[in-house]
Amino acid sequence: MKRRLRKILSEFLPQEKLIYVYNSYDIVGDIAIIRLTEISKKYDQIIAEAIMNVHKNVKTVLVQTTPIHGDLRLRKLEYVAGENKTTTVHKESGCLFSVDVEKCYFSPRLFYERMRVAKQVTKGEVVVNMFAGVGCFSIIMAIRSEVEKIYSIDVNPVAIKYMQENMRLNRVYGKVIPIEGDAKEVIDKRLRHVADRILMPLPEKAFTYLPYALLALKKTEGWIHYYDFEHARKNENPLEKVRLKVVEKLESLGVAFKIPFGRVVRTTGPNWYQVVLDIAVKR
Ligand SMILES: C[S@@+](CC[C@H](N)C(=O)[O-])C[C@H]1O[C@@H](n2cnc3c(N)ncnc32)[C@H](O)[C@@H]1O
Repeated sequence: MKRRLRKILSEFLPQEKLIYVYNSYDIVGDIAIIRLTEISKKYDQIIAEAIMNVHKNVKTVLVQTTPIHGDLRLRKLEYVAGENKTTTVHKESGCLFSVDVEKCYFSPRLFYERMRVAKQVTKGEVVVNMFAGVGCFSIIMAIRSEVEKIYSIDVNPVAIKYMQENMRLNRVYGKVIPIEGDAKEVIDKRLRHVADRILMPLPEKAFTYLPYALLALKKTEGWIHYYDFEHARKNENPLEKVRLKVVEKLESLGVAFKIPFGRVVRTTGPNWYQVVLDIAVKR
């Protein structure tokens, strides 16, 4: 928890209750999204006021009441304080992202990853972003690289609407091509062997959708940015576990490949990790 926030809270909350306040929260544009425990729930207004005090740009505080769930990766949010709204505009890497945090997936925690991938794109590349959301990876890539175009698929019609709004906000018409639908079907019907690079930023489905990522790649060679969640005990390496799983799958599909880079993107729970592998495919 930020030091100033803890200091403010300690003036209003008994010391023994302070440990029940979650350490982290997300700020998306001018909305703070917090989580509360059974005990800290009683102090929701105090916590919200303290956050608005520390972050002067925060106008709304919402509490997340469910984990991110379902195909669309959404969470239930309830109003706590400030302006009662769920839409905002978030700034990241010089880009603007309009988003409804209740109806679309959005995580400010992936900012490093979005730039990391954008920096690898070379002039004239065609990219397929299989799970594009409101367009964060695609728009940052359109602005920060010399990409030719990025087919940006999402199954959530609301996310596609915001992606279109974000294309307008960031003036990237022509480079980002929004496509509503299931990535599997879209690739099978429209995007076979078109891409130099594939993004798979949906850890829950990336493994089963790997054959479709391969189908979208050009017949010569290309890159796949593969995201997954992995459980690992203290003596285990989450990156190595994912690498072994993917190696086995690609070998079973008869693919020639190398995995020159991988990293743990973030911790997502006790002993749970989000991992990325950069896979170089050669035909
Ligand atoms: C974890 S989010 C990533 C969004 C975005 N790349 C970002 O970083 O903000 C995954 C996205 O995949 C979409 N999705 C889920 N299943 C899908 C599918 N079968 N085909 C295409 N998109 C899908 C969800 O609607 C969600 O927007």
